[in-house]
Amino acid sequence: MSLDDLRRAADAARANAWCPYSHYPVGAALETDDGRVFVGCNVENASYPAGICAERVALGTAIAHGARRFVRVVITSAAAEPTPPCGICRQALVEFAPALEIFAVTPDGRTAHWSLAALLPAPFTPASLENA
Ligand code: THU
Repeated sequence: MSLDDLRRAADAARANAWCPYSHYPVGAALETDDGRVFVGCNVENASYPAGICAERVALGTAIAHGARRFVRVVITSAAAEPTPPCGICRQALVEFAPALEIFAVTPDGRTAHWSLAALLPAPFTPASLENA
């Protein structure tokens, strides 16, 4: 799938975002190593901490469908600057995709690109548990 296809998938999910508190809709399209794509949007809650980011909705949906390995995620928002994944999402993603490539795209097409390894150096991983 092209980056533009993934962006369109993320934007379609973003249209369904539930964000009456932040008014900051986010969409995510997570691509597996065998070419499947799972999308998510942020889902906020009147109890604010119960809200969840678009990336983790996409990840949970993918896991529920049996996917385990991911190569790329595209994040879209309405912000003028590309939206990077929050710290909790970085940690959630590294469990399954330490080599994930992350793209964030603005409505006018400005694109940022990072590796998850660069955004989350020295991650806590399943292997970390073996050192106890
Ligand atoms: N949010 C995401 O869904 N993904 C990100 O990468 C950054 C932040 C959401 C959480 C909250 O619903 C809103 O954006 C404002 O923080």
